[in-house]
Amino acid sequence: MHPFLLAILSLVLFTQCNSKQVSEQSTPTLYQEPHRNQFHFSPDSMWMNDPNGMVYYEGEYHLFYQYYPDSTVWGPMHWGHAVSKDLVHWEHLPIALYPDELGYIFSGSAVIDWNNTSGFGDGETPPMIAIFTHHNSEGERAGAIDFQYQSIAYSLDKGRSWTKYAGNPVVPNPGIKDFRDPKVVWDENSQQWVMVFAAWDHVKLYGSPNLKDWTHLSDFGREWGSHAGVWECPDFFPIALEGTDDQRWLMIVSVQAGSPNGGTGAQYFVGDFNGQEFVLSDDFVAAVRPAEVLNEQRINRDEKTVWVDHGRDNYAGVTWSDVPASDGRRLFIGWMSNWQYALQVPTERWRSAMTLPRELSLIRTSAGPRLAAQPVRELQMLRQEELFWSPEETGGLLSGTAVNQQEWILEFDPLAQPTISEVYLELSNSAGERLLIGYEVESQRFFTDRTITQLADFQAGFATQRHYAPRAPDQAAKIRMHLFLDHASVELFADEGQTVLTDIYFAKSPFTTARLFADGGVWQTNPQVFPLASIWR
Ligand code: FRU
Repeated sequence: MHPFLLAILSLVLFTQCNSKQVSEQSTPTLYQEPHRNQFHFSPDSMWMNDPNGMVYYEGEYHLFYQYYPDSTVWGPMHWGHAVSKDLVHWEHLPIALYPDELGYIFSGSAVIDWNNTSGFGDGETPPMIAIFTHHNSEGERAGAIDFQYQSIAYSLDKGRSWTKYAGNPVVPNPGIKDFRDPKVVWDENSQQWVMVFAAWDHVKLYGSPNLKDWTHLSDFGREWGSHAGVWECPDFFPIALEGTDDQRWLMIVSVQAGSPNGGTGAQYFVGDFNGQEFVLSDDFVAAVRPAEVLNEQRINRDEKTVWVDHGRDNYAGVTWSDVPASDGRRLFIGWMSNWQYALQVPTERWRSAMTLPRELSLIRTSAGPRLAAQPVRELQMLRQEELFWSPEETGGLLSGTAVNQQEWILEFDPLAQPTISEVYLELSNSAGERLLIGYEVESQRFFTDRTITQLADFQAGFATQRHYAPRAPDQAAKIRMHLFLDHASVELFADEGQTVLTDIYFAKSPFTTARLFADGGVWQTNPQVFPLASIWR
């Protein structure tokens, strides 16, 4: 079912069921509620989806987000707002953008207009410009198809207050039902602003000298990658192949269905941009072979796709604009949920969290250029004193610590331990719930397994099988798994971020025991384990 229809249905169910639940329970302390992640961003209350408008300006990383302040399910969208000085600790700010006569405020991006090309500046302060989709729900209800269009707003006080442009929309709708999620980047080569947004089964590229007047440049993607669902939330930016001056353009596109382990997910494309068109690189084309087209019906069976993340729970992710050149990183954050069940997850006061912020890089492999994602180094500031223990002495058991708020670094060498067929880290509690994160030797796949957690019946397919991620090409025998375990999520960065798997989970009670398990032997490893401080206390 389309997420918006699902949202309305759930809203009705929610209001019927939830008024009762709330009155029967005592209110837990803010940010200490069951399932509240302790080192991931989440709104203090109510519904959140996509990250929006991420931009760095004067020492602050801005994070805007799809927000509905009146309910814990999707509804008329606003842009919520938070800032961070370090990408780790977040300060909540008042709502930045409210729905208006042109519609709800859907996803989009923000840039700093350093040269005041828009003319919104006051001569001293470069304007911060938000570029977003207006979603006209009345038009949608009336059966129109042109109810989404791109608009802008500006701020001269570091994103605290916003003025919407009187000439909105800046990109009117030509008659395409899904027409949304603009991401804007300044292209140094062609000296223009470039906007990319999703239009049903492809993305559209537009160019502008001033962020107000836009011209259609080209379309991309009808024939490439996954078309199992509608395209959403693209990102587009230059990035050099690591260690070279071989400059490419990376395009990330979220897709509403068909991700590797089910539901919504994000794919990417590597190519070149000549100021007009995005053309896939020769060494990348084979990875995203054309979807066959037959009578306008795409045959998805043979699609080839490369994914940003193999987990179920990293959607609509995009990168920060205007990170200073002296820093030079390409920083990404995603929405840590999946439209298959986002509206039903069993949290009371709020719904959903963001992934950890990640640093993206483009690396060379024998299969062509590939994306790698690593947790940002700033997260190390959360590390508490390292736990020293010997799995050999304890039979692999680590009990009695807050294992749901830890960072783990584990190694496994299948060549050195050839009798072992799989290894995993198991988190468990006295209720018998277990969460597994590991590696299967023969199939060469990483996996997470949330099927033995008990709060899973809110959606039929939430926890029915392991989630897999194939190992990236060209690896040495020894495997490195870098794990971030929070109260309702696990993020696996394997092989220096070449394989990423992000999943949420819901256990009845916190995990208190960790165990290293190997099938067919004893996992010889020296785990590095760091308890992590909460960012909310
Ligand atoms: C993606 C999305 C976007 C849209 C927003 C609405 O999750 O469907 O395409 O702008 O959410 O909240």
